[in-house]
Amino acid sequence: MTPTLLTQTNGRNGRAMQLPFGEKRDGPLFNQSILSVKQFSRDDLEHIFAVADEMRMMVERVGSFDLLKGKVLAVLFYEPSTRTSSSFIAAIQRLGGSIIPINEVKYSSVAKGESLPDTIRTLEAYADVIVLRHPETGAAALAAKYARKPIINAGDGIGEHPTQALLDLFTILEERGKIDGATVTMLGDLKYGRTVHSLARLLSLYNVKLNSVSPELLQMPRELIDELNAHNIPQFETTSLDDVLSETDVLYVTRVQKERFANLDEYEAVKNSYVITPEILSRAKQNMVLMHPLPRVGEISEAVDGDPRAAYFRQVEYGMYVRMALLAMVLGKA
Ligand code: CP
Repeated sequence: MTPTLLTQTNGRNGRAMQLPFGEKRDGPLFNQSILSVKQFSRDDLEHIFAVADEMRMMVERVGSFDLLKGKVLAVLFYEPSTRTSSSFIAAIQRLGGSIIPINEVKYSSVAKGESLPDTIRTLEAYADVIVLRHPETGAAALAAKYARKPIINAGDGIGEHPTQALLDLFTILEERGKIDGATVTMLGDLKYGRTVHSLARLLSLYNVKLNSVSPELLQMPRELIDELNAHNIPQFETTSLDDVLSETDVLYVTRVQKERFANLDEYEAVKNSYVITPEILSRAKQNMVLMHPLPRVGEISEAVDGDPRAAYFRQVEYGMYVRMALLAMVLGKA
């Protein structure tokens, strides 16, 4: 799809300039950083999901198209990633743009001691948008403070992973047809798992019930529970999946985050607390949606991968459509 029509707008210095057809400089995310799910309203989510649906249709129809031709995405990852980095790269490439990949900061000047603000100010000289994963909570907000270009938070320590939460919600919508009315059970590492923190906040914009199942050591942070209570979200906390399995519509399983533990003995004590097996699924609703942000390290048995309820690899694919939508919106093309 080559943009051909032109519209008139005021450019820098107030001079009239031409914009390609489709430019949406008044769109909800235009030129904005994506730092936290707290910045989204329910209307924003509906808009993002509608664009993501269009992206899916376009990919199915034509594979890739030139909506973001000429745009450059910098992918700056201080922590390992398969899905988030690859899906952002696939997203910009399917939209006709290109990338600056820094997936191994040890091969960049970060290894010489360069600060995050200086790295960001350098990359924004080359790129139109920067996707950042960093081990410290608040790193994406710090980067955005120094940047003139939009920063997309791809995970900041145990803080947030907003684009994962958006794709998780999109998955629930695509798999169930609606989000309202769902009983969502989050299982595993609810203390360090940033994906559950972001998803719980987004779910609080809907009419849902939230169950938290974890070892006592890995419970949902108290301030997040209080935040959800303030949104009148019914919540139930337990250490036993059996307490809530039969009422669960969406089971969101997470990995115990070994890399966040200061004391590895504590990790060893809780690492195998829950494993989803075919026997457990046999006691769950027939239309339950089984999700996991991945990677998994044993908490979902491979024996359940063939069950139609196992949505985690479809979830991976939905992620690319959501990230295509976000890039198009941030860059004013959706
Ligand atoms: N879900 C997720 O963030 O996966 P990666 O760590 O592989 O990016």
